[in-house]
Amino acid sequence: MAEKLSFLILAIAMPMMAHGNSIGEGPEAVQEWFKNLPNAKEKVTKLHLYMHDVIGGKNPTVITVAQSNYSLNSPTMFGLTRMMDNALTVGPDHETEPQPESNVIGRAQGIYGAASMEEIGLLMTFNFVFTHGEYNGSTLSVLGHNPFLHRYREMPVVGGSGVFRLARGIATANTVWVNITSQCAVIEYNVIVLHY
Ligand SMILES: *[C@@H]1O[C@H](CO)[C@@H](O)[C@H](O)[C@H]1NC(C)=O
Ligand SMILES: *[C@@H]1O[C@H](CO)[C@@H](O)[C@H](O)[C@H]1NC(C)=O
Ligand SMILES: *[C@@H]1O[C@H](CO)[C@@H](O)[C@H](O)[C@H]1NC(C)=O
Repeated sequence: MAEKLSFLILAIAMPMMAHGNSIGEGPEAVQEWFKNLPNAKEKVTKLHLYMHDVIGGKNPTVITVAQSNYSLNSPTMFGLTRMMDNALTVGPDHETEPQPESNVIGRAQGIYGAASMEEIGLLMTFNFVFTHGEYNGSTLSVLGHNPFLHRYREMPVVGGSGVFRLARGIATANTVWVNITSQCAVIEYNVIVLHY
């Protein structure tokens, strides 16, 4: 019954999918978009975001999903792996609670793991998932090395979807606020991407 119902909802929702932009399009529209690429002009888009990394407290948005005995005794936490669904906001408000709705523009969703035995350094693999504003429904994918005790960490943007199809660029992370007690941090991201 539940299965039938969810199919019905899907069937009703389908014709309501967005048209006129590049979000939620079917394969034909995607192919058409690629066919028009020779006429498309590459552009540069800059984004300025704040990510709220909340590990502790009542409403964490980061959870540990794996670690080995080795991680617990390692000075670089080698092997410790976490999943995040962090709020992205346009301002740097130092809050541990969810941000005011007007300030949130998306989520940073993905996995990061301590991948370095020499120096504290994370392997970051995550998506900027935009839920508000002109990029609502679009994503940018980041895959990079994050030695988070350094001031600036440069990570490649390796792709995107929606308005960011075929995007490539750089995300520069800068930790602007930390509370060790509540295990919260606010990380500023300056993102610059080439896309069409
Ligand atoms: C890891 O620690 C647990 C709990 O102390 C222990 O039972 C297990 O044998 C350890 N595993 C290894 C590979 O050392
Ligand atoms: C973002 O897009 C979704 C799907 O198209 C829509 O349901 C939602 O209302 C949009 N959110 C905002 C804040 O525009
Ligand atoms: C850090 O977090 C703790 C625990 O939530 C809180 O009591 C303290 O006021 C916070 N410190 C700052 C500087 O915000």
